[in-house]
Formats: sequence, C-alpha cells, structure tokens
Amino acid sequence: MKRGCWVCRVINLVLVAALVGLAYLIVVPGNIEPHADGRSVVLLNPDERNKVLGEMRGLLETVQAVVQAATMGDMEAVSVASTAAGMAAARGESGSLLGKLPLEFLALGMGTHKAFDALAVTAQETDDPMVILEELGVIMDNCTGCHAGYRLGIEGQDREQ
Ligand code: HEC
Repeated sequence: MKRGCWVCRVINLVLVAALVGLAYLIVVPGNIEPHADGRSVVLLNPDERNKVLGEMRGLLETVQAVVQAATMGDMEAVSVASTAAGMAAARGESGSLLGKLPLEFLALGMGTHKAFDALAVTAQETDDPMVILEELGVIMDNCTGCHAGYRLGIEGQDREQ
C-alpha cells in the first residue's frame, strides 16, 4: 500500500467501525420496548407471536413427556420426546422473526433446543431417572430465566400496561 494514503486508511477504519457499530445496534437489542412489569416486550407480528407461543406449548409438552417417561424408567420415550424439542424444532424459523429477537433471547432459545438434543443422548446412556430429571432441571433454568426477562407483544399496537 502507498505510504501517502494514511487518510484513506483512517477513513476506512472509521467506516468499518461505523458499520460494525450499526450492525451491533440493530442485531443485539432486537425489536423490543420496556414494560411496566420490568420485563422487555419482544414486538412481533400476530403470526410470529402465535408461532412462538405454539412452540412454547410444545416445550411444555416435552417437559411433561420427559418427566412422565423418566418416572416410568422409559428412556426410549425420554429420548424421543427430547429430540422433538431439539435443534430440529428450530429449523425453518424465518429470518424476519429471528431478526426481531434480542441476541440474549436467541441464545437462550437455541441453548434450550441444544440442551434437549443433549438430554436425548443422555437418555441413551443411562437407566437412572434421577440423571434425566437433574439435567431437565438445569434446562428449565432457561425457561424460567427467559420468562423472567421477556414477554411478547404485537408491533404497532398501543402498549398494554
Ligand atoms: C428464549 C426465551 C424463552 C425460553 C428459553 C422459554 N420461553 Fe416460554 N415463553 C417465552 C415468552 C417471551 C413467552 C410469552 C410470555 C408473555 O408474553 O407473557 C413464553 C410463553 C410460554 C408459555 C405460554 C404459551 C401460551 O400459549 O401462552 C409456555 C407454556 C412456555 N412459555 C413454556 C416454556 C417452557 C416449558 C420452556 C423451557 C423448556 C420455555 N417456555 C422456554 C420465552 C421463552
């Protein structure tokens, strides 16, 4: 590179820094606003909200199925139920929905799917229901942690208090 063009390099650096900063500002917070109950409202369109809530009910069904199967010592059923809530369940999420979710929310959500895949593997390696229930308890820290921090709202609607 020519020695003389240090100005170009500075301008380049400033531009790159501005781009990174902008990307950070757009990607990290997601589409959120504060709520009177202290949580952040993730604003989605009605279809996206229905989809997320449907996935949530699926997660609760998984938890129910895993607890029941574990207490009956049916590790095969634990594995099948856990796999259904694994990363396979997260495939097909639309880019537009993912873009509205704050990074922390996404990480907790994906971490939960990954943890269910791991639980399915554990179920193939143990006969001990307590091992399953202990691992499920840790996974459920994600459920309670996310519910404590976030709620869902509809974009463009007046804020409900
Ligand atoms: C990444 C964040 C996140 C994780 C992880 C998460 N949830 Fe949720 N869940 C939410 C949000 C946000 C709502 C909507 C709450 C609101 O609007 O008040 C919700 C709602 C729900 C609902 C209500 C569904 C309905 O139809 O109203 C259930 C049931 C539920 N979650 C179960 C679970 C279970 C079980 C887990 C863990 C295995 C879990 N969730 C993990 C964010 C999460």
